[in-house]
Parts: sequence; structure tokens; C-alpha cells
Amino acid sequence: MKTVFVTGGAGFIGSALIRLLIAESDWRIVNIDKLTYAGNLESLGGAGRDARHVFSHSDICDRQAMDALFAQYRPDGIIHLAAESHVDRSIHGPGDFIQTNVVGTYTLLEAARAYWSTLAEPERGAFRFHHVSTDEVFGSLGPTGLFDETTAYDPRSPYSSSKASSDHLVRAWQHTYGLPTLITNCSNNYGPYQFPEKLIPLMILNALAGKPLPIYGKGDNIRDWLYVDDHARALRLVFERGQPGATYCIGGRNEKTNLQVVDTLCRLLDQQRPRANGRRYEELKTFVADRPGHDQRYAIDAGKIQRELGWTPTESFESGIAKTVAWYLDNGEWIAHVQSGAYRQWIDQNYSQRQS
Ligand code: NAD
Ligand code: TYD
Repeated sequence: MKTVFVTGGAGFIGSALIRLLIAESDWRIVNIDKLTYAGNLESLGGAGRDARHVFSHSDICDRQAMDALFAQYRPDGIIHLAAESHVDRSIHGPGDFIQTNVVGTYTLLEAARAYWSTLAEPERGAFRFHHVSTDEVFGSLGPTGLFDETTAYDPRSPYSSSKASSDHLVRAWQHTYGLPTLITNCSNNYGPYQFPEKLIPLMILNALAGKPLPIYGKGDNIRDWLYVDDHARALRLVFERGQPGATYCIGGRNEKTNLQVVDTLCRLLDQQRPRANGRRYEELKTFVADRPGHDQRYAIDAGKIQRELGWTPTESFESGIAKTVAWYLDNGEWIAHVQSGAYRQWIDQNYSQRQS
């Protein structure tokens, strides 16, 4: 049985990956997560209670804790998702982004290298350090063109520059020390269990509460949306079959302006949960000041992962967004716990137990 570390496994994408791996593999998963505001163990569902899921409440910046985990569990590889992930937060306070995304990735690389260098073949050659990154490292596109694995880095926000830094560190550890690394750069994800600071869940929850739907600038910025479970499948495929040292771009070829996304959400909510006052959700759309340095357009050419590993997304934007709206309408308990902060009780209980 393989043992795989997943960092950030209580987050949006990490929890989707663990749900997939517990359901569809026989691997033991060690989920390493600090449980920041974005970490929520409730997002794991039944997978969180499976005997093959081990949770470690740890900070990836803590070298001693990372060394102890490598020594205890002797993993076959690591899929590294732990990060500060929200651009707006990075603009208001970049410090945590440098700490977790840059220093944390460095710490994990060093802990992984120390462990990997003790391995004998064939484990040494089979080990993988898979770093999960974003298309935002490539900067901003004009009206035409696509990002691919050959695109030069040009990050523009504190978030994307911290992710770019971590990508460079991972490549350097492969080039210099021979650590068998993989990097994936994915476009914007959406789907169940996404924290309501990101565009799609924020708009759904604001609409349901009758609050304004804040659209930055003119709403003409474009993102290339991918349903989170399609990303999770791509991550598993790259981890298992990707070429060590390689990069893979992942995206759904679902370019939409922010206005198109918000209009779609309003239309679906009008159908699935009409407002009590008989009015349309689109009346809540509110244009607000633009995000500083707002990237205009992201779009991914996912040709390499399709050709080499046979990955294609299963959800179109239309099918994925309808599922997503239905999920938020059906999962009031998860939403209520996030909104009330009750999802953080796990930390309070465990900290008080540890201290007593
Ligand atoms: P998220 O913010 O939902 O989750 C991040 C998780 O990391 C949380 O559970 C948090 O508790 C944990 N974490 C944060 N700092 C930590 C630390 N120091 N030590 C241990 N755990 C820590 O993020 P997400 O949207 O699931 O993104 C996961 C990864 O995928 C990130 O690396 C992100 O850059 C990348 N990514 C995200 C998207 C997207 O659209 N969300 C797209 C492409 C790539
Ligand atoms: P976001 O979900 O924060 O992802 P990212 O910035 O990583 O692409 O934002 C997606 C797009 O939606 C981005 O162009 C900013 C815009 N946006 C708004 O217009 N209003 C909002 O309240 C938020 C959170 C985002």
C-alpha cells in the first residue's frame, strides 16, 4: 500500500483530491494541514473518517514537524497544495503568502530531500514531490493567446509572485539535487466546498442573502474555469504517470468574463431558488472599485497533459456550474458552519485538549 502526503488537504482542492484518492485508490493519505481560516475538516466528508486517512495538524514551515512526519510515515511521495490562495488577501497582507508559499515550500523541499536521500533504489527513483501551482504565475493575457508549459513567468500579484517563487524553488531542487519533482499549473477552480471568499461561492451566498454582488471594475476580466474534481483527477494522473522534472498545464478551455459567470449564477438561482420578493437576482449586481493590478485574462492550453497522459475534463462549464449551485443550495449545514466559524471548533477542542 502506497503512503502519500497531501499538504493542504483540508482546503478546497486538497479535500477534493483526498475524497477522490480515498474513494478510488488503496493509498494511505497523510493529510498535513495547519487549518488556517481556509482549512475545514468537514470538507473531507466520509473520507476524513476513513482508516486510510491520517490527519496531522502541522505547519509546513515547521521543519522539525516535517522531518518527524517523513520519519514516521516514510511516504512514497508528496502532493503539495498547502498555500495561502486568495489574491485579495495577498494584496492586503502579503506576509503570510511569503511565509507559507515560499518559506513553507522551501522547508518541505528540504525535509523531502533529507528523507529522499536516505532511500535506496527502487524507492529513491520512484519518489515524487508534486508541487501544485497556478496559471497566475504566467501573468496576464491580452485578448488572444494561451498559456502553456513554455510561457515565461510574469507574476503580478503578491499571491502569484509567491507561487512563482515556489515553482522556481521546486525546479531548482530537481535540477541541483535530482529530487524527482513535478509541477502542475492550473486555471481557476470552482465546485463544492470552496471557501466563500472566491468569486463563485461569494456570489452564490451573497445572492441567497439578498446582498450586493460586488463586480470588480467592468466585469470584463476573463478566467478559464475548471471543475475541481477534474483538477483532482489530473493531479492523480500527473503524480502517478508524469515525467519527473516536467511541468503540466491544466485547464478546462472554459473562458468566461466575470459578468458572464455572475449572470449565469443569477439565472440558475432564479430557476432553482426564486427570490421571495419575486425580483431577479441580477438586480443585486453592483460594480465596485477594481482590484489593484487586476490581471485581465487567463487561459490555458492543456494540450500536453491531454496528449501525454490522456486527461480531459469531464465537466463543461454549464454542467459544472449547475452542479455547484445545486451543491450550495443543498449544503446549508457546511455553509452555516463556515459562516458562523463553527468549522473551527476542531482546532479549539484539540488545542485545549493538548494544553490541559
Ligand atoms: P485553500 O485556500 O482552499 O486551501 C489551502 C489549505 O492549505 C488550507 O486547508 C490551509 O489550512 C492550508 N495551509 C495554509 N497554510 C498552511 C501551512 N503553513 N501549513 C500547512 N497547511 C497550510 O486553497 P485551494 O484553493 O484548495 O488551493 C490549493 C492549492 O492549489 C494552492 O497551492 C493554490 O495555489 C493552488 N491552486 C488553486 C487554484 C484555485 O482556483 N483555487 C487554481 C490553481 C492552483
Ligand atoms: P477569484 O475567485 O478571487 O480568483 P483569482 O483572483 O485567483 O482569479 O476572482 C476571480 C475573478 O473574479 C477575478 O477577476 C476577480 C473577480 N472578483 C470580483 O469581481 N468580485 C469579487 O468579489 C471577487 C472575490 C472576485
